[in-house]
Amino acid sequence: MKVIAFANQKGGVAKTTTCVNIAGIFASKGLKTLVVDSDPQCNATSFLLRDEVNSSATLAALYEQKIYDSPELIKPTRLMNLSVIPGGFKLAGMVSEVYSRIRNHERLAMYFGKHATNFDVIFIDCPPDIGIFTLNAFVASNYLIVPMIPERLSLEGYKQLQEKVELVQGMGLDVSILGSIITVFQGGLAVHKEWKKQIEVGFGNELLGIIHSAAEVKRVSELRELLCEGDKGNRAYKEHLATAHRISSLIGMAL
Ligand SMILES: Nc1ncnc2c1ncn2[C@@H]1O[C@H](COP(=O)(O)OP(=O)(O)OP(=O)(O)O)[C@@H](O)[C@H]1O
Ligand SMILES: [Mg+2]
Repeated sequence: MKVIAFANQKGGVAKTTTCVNIAGIFASKGLKTLVVDSDPQCNATSFLLRDEVNSSATLAALYEQKIYDSPELIKPTRLMNLSVIPGGFKLAGMVSEVYSRIRNHERLAMYFGKHATNFDVIFIDCPPDIGIFTLNAFVASNYLIVPMIPERLSLEGYKQLQEKVELVQGMGLDVSILGSIITVFQGGLAVHKEWKKQIEVGFGNELLGIIHSAAEVKRVSELRELLCEGDKGNRAYKEHLATAHRISSLIGMAL
């Protein structure tokens, strides 16, 4: 089992879109895949489930109770091999409460250790901050992937995240940044081209893929569907597939 979190402190950099679409591809290739929606916005959940976002068996339950010990948070989706732990809107109001609980930062890791060991791969969609839910994701993960729109603010988000990762590593935890993904890339924008160059040559981290801004991504997302459910001939799908292949080879998993 490999656990990979999609994180960047910067909001709106396509963390969720990339996370669910890459997860969909892993599942469609036959790997037992779990998506964990660790964001109170519940955007990843809305791609994968239709009406259950407000049900009580969401990730919020994991943080609510002293010891949550039930496999029922893991829900099947309409896609074969793809399950989800839905996010709960309730998470938003729970931050200070969670901070005060014992071993608050290990909740997710403990849950995976008990109930998710039969998955090949787990993808966690993080919120756009480095609070308690992101920290839980870091503690539970083997790797982090940092989606970035090639603009200054995304890269600042990356640097802030890197500091937090070092902190978690300093606690003796075995998590590392697998690499970044350039997202919503617009080749016609000088600023995107410039940052892309900088990321490629001098960033000191693995570039896992480049995903262009695409009407197809928007269209499918509006329908709350995944790219792997539709036409596989378009560039958006192919770019996600290439990125999924790069990730799988780096983590030593055949796709
Ligand atoms: N390749 C793409 N082409 C066009 N639009 C995209 C692409 N990827 C993502 N988007 C759009 O960009 C917006 C932000 O994407 P998304 O919600 O995935 O970002 P996020 O980083 O998860 O945001 P948040 O920080 O709020 O969680 C969405 O409207 C999404 O549809
Ligand atoms: Mg998101």
